[in-house]
Amino acid sequence: MPKSKTIYRCTDCGYESAKWNGKCPSCGAWNTLEEDIPLPTGNRCGNAQRNPVDLSNQITALRDIDTTHDVRYQTGVGELDRVLGGGLVKGSIVLLGGEPGIGKSTLLLQICQYFGKSHQVLYVSGEESAKQIKIRAKRLQVNTENLWVLTVTDAQSICDTLAVNRPDIVIIDSIQTMQMEEISSSPGSLTQVRECTNLFMQTAKQLDIPIWIVGHVNKDGAIAGPKVMEHIVDAVLHFEGERNMSYRILRAVKNRYGSTNEIGVFEMQDNGLKEVPNPSAMLLDGRPQNVSGTCVTCMMEGSRPILAEIQVLATKSGFSAPRRQTQGFDYSRMIILIAVLEKHLGLFYGTLDVYLNVVGGFSLDEPAGDLAVALCLFSSLVDKPISPTTTAFGEVGLGGEVRGISHIRRRVLEAERMGFTRCIVPQSCLQELKGSTYQIRIAGVRNLRQAFSVLQKDTQTKETKTD
Ligand code: TYD
Ligand code: MG
Repeated sequence: MPKSKTIYRCTDCGYESAKWNGKCPSCGAWNTLEEDIPLPTGNRCGNAQRNPVDLSNQITALRDIDTTHDVRYQTGVGELDRVLGGGLVKGSIVLLGGEPGIGKSTLLLQICQYFGKSHQVLYVSGEESAKQIKIRAKRLQVNTENLWVLTVTDAQSICDTLAVNRPDIVIIDSIQTMQMEEISSSPGSLTQVRECTNLFMQTAKQLDIPIWIVGHVNKDGAIAGPKVMEHIVDAVLHFEGERNMSYRILRAVKNRYGSTNEIGVFEMQDNGLKEVPNPSAMLLDGRPQNVSGTCVTCMMEGSRPILAEIQVLATKSGFSAPRRQTQGFDYSRMIILIAVLEKHLGLFYGTLDVYLNVVGGFSLDEPAGDLAVALCLFSSLVDKPISPTTTAFGEVGLGGEVRGISHIRRRVLEAERMGFTRCIVPQSCLQELKGSTYQIRIAGVRNLRQAFSVLQKDTQTKETKTD
């Protein structure tokens, strides 16, 4: 028998190499090549020894495939059900990824309470002792009779137990602690993670049991061994958020049973994660009054419009080269917008430090936020507050023009719902808004100059009103 050779595989891109390198020759990542066992090469296409197998009788017409018994378990958490595409599908395997400490174990333990009403749930933990789980469950008020705990890390024995025990739902916390005896590498290595995931996948399909797998992400935001894991499982959910902020966003990165556009918003409280059904209200809570440099914009998170406040502080610099800093917004994009304002509107930021923040720890990474950022930059420079009931969205081009954006109707309706009275939108989007009546006053603008004059008109009317 030929000796099985060791190969080295990149944990980021899956590149295979016969010898170890500090840097992956394919994707350029450092220190990502890990020891692995090559896949068997026998029985590949063109092997003359192989007898042909006819599987014609297994070909099925699409119309004959029965989906009437497709079961979805509700989780009791609306935000989670939405991200899953309407609930947890029986026999599916879902990977819940996120940084350590973000709340993965908390969320999964919380949903056990609802599952436990009518299903048997097995919580397999390789990270915490049964006692620790019990203490956490108490804190989360999880006291269902149907929750069972197993604290082992041997993947094969777990699957054997599942075959005998047959729970309705299984949670594996976490895949990085699971191991298979036959594989010599340590738990959490690429080979262990891949083989254990494969084993759980086969078990989920064979026994028709849904399995949740918790996966920690490394510092770059990728699940350890991302390529090998993400394609095996049915759905990949990412739990995101700043650790020091209480908001958490659950995002579907892959979903074989639903859309990847949906997000769920949660808040971490003393007694676990709470759903935030109205994120716009949460984000706008506690807005400062009569302060220059703040404006609200509407961003799309998948198909969901969310209003977020942008704050800019342009202040006299004490440094030889003025500082620019952003949080939740692309740094280079802000520099470009400053350049546009300087070139086309004659404003001058050369001696000012500029700080930008998107409130609530959200990141605004779509061009639709440009207009509100430009308005904030202007407002902070001239030190005139923007009316708190004004919102703006549109992309700003290098010529200072305001360009069209997607989902304009949804954004306008969300702004209207949240009580805004004035909405500055790209002129080219007005056509799309025709046909309905809105309570909110809509101003279409072609360029930044027009947008600023809308702001000034707003301030003037307010001044005349107060007179
Ligand atoms: P955890 O679910 O253990 O994170 P993960 O499984 O993703 O590693 O979350 C732990 C954090 O959540 C911890 O820092 C404390 C915080 N937390 C609360 O704020 N409230 C709670 O009720 C619980 C259970 C945890
Ligand atoms: Mg955990």
